[in-house]
Amino acid sequence: MTSISPAQQPRRVKATFLGPFAAALVAIMGVFTITIYLAEVSVRDRDLAERSAAVTRLFALKLDKDSNLMRAVVHAMKGNAAIEQAFRRGDRAGLERSARGLFETLRRDHRITHLYFTEPDRTNLYRLHTPTEYGDRIDRATMLQTYTRKEPVHGLELGPLGTLTLRLVAPWKAQGRELGFVEIGEEIKHLIDEVRDNLAVDLVVFVDKRYLAQAQWLRGQSLMKRQGEWDRFSSHVALAQTAVELPLALDNRLLVDLFAGHSARISDGGRSLHMAAVPLADAAGHPIGQIAILRDVTSLEATFKGYMTIVVLASLAVAGAVFAVFNAALERVERDYRRQHELEHRLLHLDTEHQRMLQLEKLSALGTMVGGIAHQLNNPLVGVVNMAQLAERENDNPAATRELLGEIRRAGEDCRVFVRRMLEFSKVSSFSSKPTAMAPLIEDTVLMFRQAERRHHPVEIQVPAEPVVLPIDPILIRHALFNLLQNAAQATQGDAPIVIGLEPEIDPVRKLPGWSLTVTDGGAGIPAHVMDKIFVPFYTTRSDGTGLGLPVVQHVALLHGGHVSASSEPEVGTRFAIWLPTNQKDAT
Ligand SMILES: Nc1ncnc2c1ncn2[C@@H]1O[C@H](COP(=O)(O)OP(=O)(O)OP(=O)(O)O)[C@@H](O)[C@H]1O
Ligand SMILES: [Mg+2]
Repeated sequence: MTSISPAQQPRRVKATFLGPFAAALVAIMGVFTITIYLAEVSVRDRDLAERSAAVTRLFALKLDKDSNLMRAVVHAMKGNAAIEQAFRRGDRAGLERSARGLFETLRRDHRITHLYFTEPDRTNLYRLHTPTEYGDRIDRATMLQTYTRKEPVHGLELGPLGTLTLRLVAPWKAQGRELGFVEIGEEIKHLIDEVRDNLAVDLVVFVDKRYLAQAQWLRGQSLMKRQGEWDRFSSHVALAQTAVELPLALDNRLLVDLFAGHSARISDGGRSLHMAAVPLADAAGHPIGQIAILRDVTSLEATFKGYMTIVVLASLAVAGAVFAVFNAALERVERDYRRQHELEHRLLHLDTEHQRMLQLEKLSALGTMVGGIAHQLNNPLVGVVNMAQLAERENDNPAATRELLGEIRRAGEDCRVFVRRMLEFSKVSSFSSKPTAMAPLIEDTVLMFRQAERRHHPVEIQVPAEPVVLPIDPILIRHALFNLLQNAAQATQGDAPIVIGLEPEIDPVRKLPGWSLTVTDGGAGIPAHVMDKIFVPFYTTRSDGTGLGLPVVQHVALLHGGHVSASSEPEVGTRFAIWLPTNQKDAT
């Protein structure tokens, strides 16, 4: 018996593809977002680096510009006879009188904070800004360089009190005699303010504590009424700054980072600051500190965040749409896949059912056949037994015994006829076809039929004039035609002729060319309830019939790749047609 295995679950197409697809989508979006972010960070870093370079350049430029002003001032003073005479004589009161007005103007209009007259041996003669302090030796770098090179020198000088000033020291020579040196200085606060205004960055000047003494620095702070914090950073102090307050987040660690050349980003009271630092050297070339550069990137960051949000939302929407489309496509694929799977399973099931039905049909046909054979043989055998018993009883009556023996013989002959028909039926399976002319075959069969049929029923043959040759087994076709003729004669009471026809016909289902061999009678016809069963083996309505005639005809037609059809009208007649293909190979 054929059996089928339970339906295997179809593979989950969606589950297989959707997960990796979603992961790929998320990865692409992640890479996309990170790339945008990194690009923005790099643009901002480059911008800060460019601004840092600009700060260095602009700061140097401003120092040069202010030192030029100082040179012009020195030049103007050298043309002032009163100042020159006072300097030549070492006359402090004279210097006070002649240079005070100029110094005050410079202090008021040009932020000049220092004006010195120093003797050729670098001993200070007079300080216009602190007239009470004089007589000390000046050993600052600018002074020493001018002293050696005999030409004006300018540069940054870090004072003991913690002031960072731009100094210009110029030698003064008049009428072949060296009068000494003039020194002009200014604090740099206004310079970093100007740089801030130009480059839109805040600046903080940090000085290394190694170049300062805490006590003096603190004294300087109180003199200048400042409140600098010595302890806020371990290595540096903030000497000047453009912003009022230093950011709270600016701590030691960050400072070390900045001074090592890195940039940093901090938050300060709702602001976002991007920071870097550039080195600062004094006139002697000592690395006295660093200028920290603070760029406010709050609004830039807000704009970037806005754009990022839009980009991320837009990509999310696109990714969502792509995901939905892919999901729908996969769903459809999975649905089709399932349907196909189910169909295949159903087909398999149907096929199995069909096989089972065939088995059952075969068994049932075998049952019918066995029943039919038993029935056919049983009747005469019962007769034989009964009549033999009667003959036993009538053994003293020879005439009756002879009659009974005659009956027994007839019953035996019936059995023999039945067995012969059975043997004929079994012979039908040996089939060998060859091109055969149909008209002679039909005529031979009719002749044979006339000899066998006692009533000499009229038979008409209607075949085409031109010879029709078909690939057939002549013995089988003759046998089939004989059976049809026999049935027609048995169904016809009067003298209505039986007509044999041969006409070309296309098979309506397979569209194959062929011929129909027909037998038409004017007999009783076949009732509808009988029509359904006429091809069932052993089905007969006649008492002496075996019910094998038409099954044989059908079998013969099928062996030739053809078929049999019957049409009938009660009391009018019946027409049987055996359709045979012109080319057997096409049909089988
Ligand atoms: N031309 C016909 N007209 C009317 N009925 C027919 C005709 N041919 C066949 N039949 C019916 O079909 C039944 C089956 O015919 P089939 O030839 O198979 O068996 P049978 O003629 O009864 O017996 P058998 O041919 O074996 O002697 C017949 O018993 C009869 O009822
Ligand atoms: Mg028959």
